Amino acid sequence: MSTLNLIHNTPLIFLDKISAALPGKIYAKAEHLQPGGSVKDRAAYQIILDAYENGSLKRGQTVVEMTSGNMGAGLALVCRQFGNPFIAVMSEGNSPERRKILSAFGAEIVLTKQVDGSPGMVTGADIALAVDVAKDIAHNRNAFYADQFNNPSCIRAHFNHTGPEILRDLPDADVFIASVGSGGTFVGTSKYLKSVNPDIKCIAVEPEKAAILKTGKVDDPKHIIQGTAYGLIPPHWDEALADDFITVSDEEVRDMKKRLSSDQGLYVGYSAAANAIAAQKYLLAKELALNVVTVLCDSGYKYSD
Ligand SMILES: Cc1ncc(COP(=O)(O)O)c(C=O)c1O
Repeated sequence: MSTLNLIHNTPLIFLDKISAALPGKIYAKAEHLQPGGSVKDRAAYQIILDAYENGSLKRGQTVVEMTSGNMGAGLALVCRQFGNPFIAVMSEGNSPERRKILSAFGAEIVLTKQVDGSPGMVTGADIALAVDVAKDIAHNRNAFYADQFNNPSCIRAHFNHTGPEILRDLPDADVFIASVGSGGTFVGTSKYLKSVNPDIKCIAVEPEKAAILKTGKVDDPKHIIQGTAYGLIPPHWDEALADDFITVSDEEVRDMKKRLSSDQGLYVGYSAAANAIAAQKYLLAKELALNVVTVLCDSGYKYSD
């Protein structure tokens, strides 16, 4: 077995404590248990496999990507297994813990200035600058640009694996709820689930003041759900897949993050907490005994609070 065999097949955990006072049940894919610590390992692995297969990446060629950290960890560890050097371009607004992890996985790190965000809160403009820098590096160093926001491998990873794993472990899933960064997780998983059972409802999670997918506008681009909701409609987005949207506040997310660790024994990050609070809100609003599946996107260890 190699490190790469640890990617995929995460456990689907029944959140019994969180579900106790609810009419239905919440189940969560434990993506924080992936070797790179997040759901992005899946997309990273698929990007590299597909790039080798279609000839756009050669043995030993450098790989570069704009990353808020999790895709960087995934690509760093996957690239190292294949023998490709990896450069992560990231906004300095991401937590220092994330940089440490990327260095530990062997990535070269290039930091870009924040345009209008603040430490811990990365905006669309911050991301746009990091993308420009990553593209320049790809051009100047003849590197392969992974391009997670446009690369269809990110959708394929979740269509081929996350979706099938969910229905293998919970054939009577009724609802899938997930936050949206590049959109790979939501779009790829929802597409698969609906292809098998068109009655499964797929619900996107957004910060209450940056709910661009739901409202088409952003009132405040700053929120604590790092890795998601960059205040833009991601190129992967497919609005036909979203049956509804749930918005969550920073305060609700913080409270759920604490509950997940203290009550449920799951020390996970903010987007995981956003997904869990959205699942709870959905069940409370519907008042039905539904099986809701969501995603624990990453671990809590890389955040400073
Ligand atoms: C912590 C975290 N949660 C959620 C996501 C969203 O995943 P996706 O890009 O598949 O929409 C990301 C993406 O980087 C992330 O880093």
